[in-house]
This record gives sequence, C-alpha cells and structure tokens, in this order.
Amino acid sequence: FPSVNDVDKEFLRDKDVIVIDVLRATSVITTAIYNGATVFPVLEVEDALKFKEEGYLLGGERRGLKIDGFDFGNSPLEYKREFVEGKNIVFTTSNGTRAIYKSFNAKNIYIGCMLNGKALVKKVLEDKRDIAIVCAGTYGKLSLDDFICAGKIIYELLKLGNCNIDDISTAAYIAYRDYKGKILEYVKYAGHYNYLISIGCKEDIEYCFMEDILDVVPVFKDGRIVKI
Ligand code: MLT
Repeated sequence: FPSVNDVDKEFLRDKDVIVIDVLRATSVITTAIYNGATVFPVLEVEDALKFKEEGYLLGGERRGLKIDGFDFGNSPLEYKREFVEGKNIVFTTSNGTRAIYKSFNAKNIYIGCMLNGKALVKKVLEDKRDIAIVCAGTYGKLSLDDFICAGKIIYELLKLGNCNIDDISTAAYIAYRDYKGKILEYVKYAGHYNYLISIGCKEDIEYCFMEDILDVVPVFKDGRIVKI
C-alpha cells in the first residue's frame, strides 16, 4: 500500500505486514530497538505526555521537529546505545506511527527500513505467510522514499524466496533495481526528502539510506515494539 490512506484493513488480516517509513520513523525505531530500547508507539502528543509522569522517555516529531517536553526528536542519530539501552521510549510521529496502528489486523507487524532490509526478509520468509508492505507515505500520499525502500525489501524477497508480486510491487522493485548503489539520486525527487533537507536533516537521510547495517527485526505486539 503506497500510504496509510490506501490501507485495506481486511486485506491485511492474518498476513505478515512490513511497515515502512524510511524517512524517518521506522529508521528511528529500528535503530532504537537495535540499541536496546523498547518503543511504545502512540498516535497523539497528548497520549505521549501522559507517560512522562510514569518515567518513560518521549520521542518523535511534528513537522519534522522535536516536540516540546520530549526527550528525543525524530533523528535516528539521537538514539545511541548510551542513551537508550534498557529504556522505554514512547514515540509519536506524523505518519509512521499511524501506519503501524493501521496495520492492526495483521498476524505480525514488522518494522522495516533500509537499515534492516535483509534481516527482515529472512524472518518473513521463515514465517511462510502472505506479505503486505504498508508504506506510511506523507500525510496520506505516496512518498518516493518509502516506495524505493519497499522496492529494496521486494528485491531481497525475490532474491531469497519464490514470491508472486503485484504490479505496484513490481514498480517499486524496478525503481530499486535501477537505482541500486545511487538511491539518493532517486530519493532527491521526493517531497519529504526536500522538506527534511530544508530543516537541516541531510545527515539523517544519508544514514537512513544505508543498507543492511542493523541485523535486527523489530515487531509490534501488545502496544510495544521489541526485537525478535
Ligand atoms: C513521520 O512519521 O511522519 C516521519 O518520520 C516524519 C519525519 O521525517 O520526521
């Protein structure tokens, strides 16, 4: 599905879902989980603030910026092991956390990005279920950054498994295949890429498009995201 607004919840029932918001929510979550945190996604800022009194750390963004009263913003580079290991982090973002909740009908909800693509694909192939990829998109619309990240996941799935894919998956696969090794040349056409550049997040983007550097599979279960 190209964005949260396109998700058909019934279609997701009993499938494995991979949620992608490569810039930047699922790259942040994957990094935080790899570095030893537990992440509690919530939809609204007010919901997150209620947890603060109970000693949780808060992370996320609105309009790409850190939220007043929060401990972390939405830069994956903030979620270093020394700050997050063993911590419970309540996390809310504009699109990524919505995509996670939109996928609630799925059997398993995995968190995916470029950083953990290969590790994730190995895991979902073991499950042997039908797979759906939910791209968060940007405010209900397709985002090229998520699209090419979905293409990478599909590319790895086809390399390792015997999968039938639909046409939108084929389009994403072709985008990744043709830009492999020079992905930022494709991503620079994305509106959200340009917005993040305008607020000074170039380093985040470069990090988010590094491939397979984190051998971790985060899964959303019972309100929290943990490592498998
Ligand atoms: C989101 O969930 O909307 C994004 O992660 C926004 C961002 O890049 O900060």
